[in-house]
Amino acid sequence: VLGCKSTADRFACAALARAFGRSTEMSVLRVEELALAVAELASNVARHAVEGEIELRRLERPRAHVEIVCRDRGPGIADVELARRDGVSCDGLGLGLGAIERLVDEVSIESTLGVGTIVTLRKWIR
Ligand SMILES: Nc1ncnc2c1ncn2[C@@H]1O[C@H](COP(=O)(O)OP(=O)(O)OP(=O)(O)O)[C@@H](O)[C@H]1O
Ligand SMILES: [Mg+2]
Repeated sequence: VLGCKSTADRFACAALARAFGRSTEMSVLRVEELALAVAELASNVARHAVEGEIELRRLERPRAHVEIVCRDRGPGIADVELARRDGVSCDGLGLGLGAIERLVDEVSIESTLGVGTIVTLRKWIR
């Protein structure tokens, strides 16, 4: 588990994801895709929420994968379906969540207004 509070923390979060991915049989390309997705997640926590943490683990079911769970204490996302679209942003390019979906195999977002957001990513190891 790694905390995430400032935008600089995205480097540490990406490095952790990279190191974790490399400890599996995942290809170098897939490891980098995972690291990039985690960097975007961490950037969202630092910019749109207050603080949060990222947890990584390996699971074998339904197939071998790395699961990333990112929990933050922030305002939450009013319209998750809308936020997932490219170009939807409060202050940036709005490409983060769309890119995350293209970089990993599964994304689920649970958000409660005024409480925070939990984003779960799964990337198959092969
Ligand atoms: N953890 C979060 N908490 C609250 N709102 C969020 C969170 N993550 C994303 N959002 C909302 O969803 C919108 C879309 O996120 P996305 O990452 O796609 O774009 P962005 O962060 O605004 O810009 P970019 O990632 O391209 O720099 C954000 O502008 C923000 O309003
Ligand atoms: Mg973003």
